[in-house]
Amino acid sequence: MRLEDVPQVSEIEREVFPTQWPFTVYKRELQNKLAHYLVAVEEPAGISQTAAAKPDAGRSPAENEAGWWGWVRRLFGGGRTSSVGEETARGEHVVGAVGFWLMLDEAHITTIGVRAHYQRLGIGELLLIESLELAQQLGARVATLEVRVTNTGAQALYEKYGFKRVGLRRKYYSDNGEDALIMTTDPLTSAAYQARFEELRESHARKWN
Ligand SMILES: CC(C)(COP(=O)(O)OP(=O)(O)OC[C@H]1O[C@@H](n2cnc3c(N)ncnc32)[C@H](O)[C@@H]1OP(=O)(O)O)[C@@H](O)C(=O)NCCC(=O)NCCS
Repeated sequence: MRLEDVPQVSEIEREVFPTQWPFTVYKRELQNKLAHYLVAVEEPAGISQTAAAKPDAGRSPAENEAGWWGWVRRLFGGGRTSSVGEETARGEHVVGAVGFWLMLDEAHITTIGVRAHYQRLGIGELLLIESLELAQQLGARVATLEVRVTNTGAQALYEKYGFKRVGLRRKYYSDNGEDALIMTTDPLTSAAYQARFEELRESHARKWN
């Protein structure tokens, strides 16, 4: 996430967490040494001829029509890399974001959200994959997060990536007094986790090109 993405990421936050208070001050978060944020952006048409833009039998007609693919942009160590594509031009459309705080050896996922219109297209999963990968590169041993007990869609995504329910924070959410599940992974660097992570990443890449 760059400074220029902040208005769009704030817009996404307001769209997907309308009852959240207070809203995240992303400008400040970009200065926070503990925080790491990634955005998924819609590929500007015509920049590349990726296979992703081609129709794929594994996708629904609507997904093929949308022809969506995105890049996850990363900033760390002063250099910029992109795991899925080249750096994009200004004015790109941000469709999702993820953030985590790295505290000692724990990556605490603070937010993940995809614009409503772009959900169920593999973007949330892509963001989770990239954030877990970055967290590992930065030395995280485990990843953890809180999720509303009623947010079964997000829980399914986390469970897919090995997050387990390890506790409950009662009345954690101030808007409706809802409880939060605390979910944590097994050690990210364990051989078993790595093998499963690779399998999932490959399967995501196959499914979404
Ligand atoms: C949760 C969220 C980030 C998922 O992103 P997404 O792009 O829609 O999800 P994906 O298409 O990448 O789905 C990946 C996996 O997540 C799970 N999943 C995601 N949404 C789901 C839903 N509504 N119901 C059931 N499973 C769901 C599935 O396991 C799915 O894998 P599959 O496609 O093989 O079944 C997105 O729905 C969102 O922004 N929600 C609102 C904000 C939010 O609740 N954030 C989490 C706060 S803790």
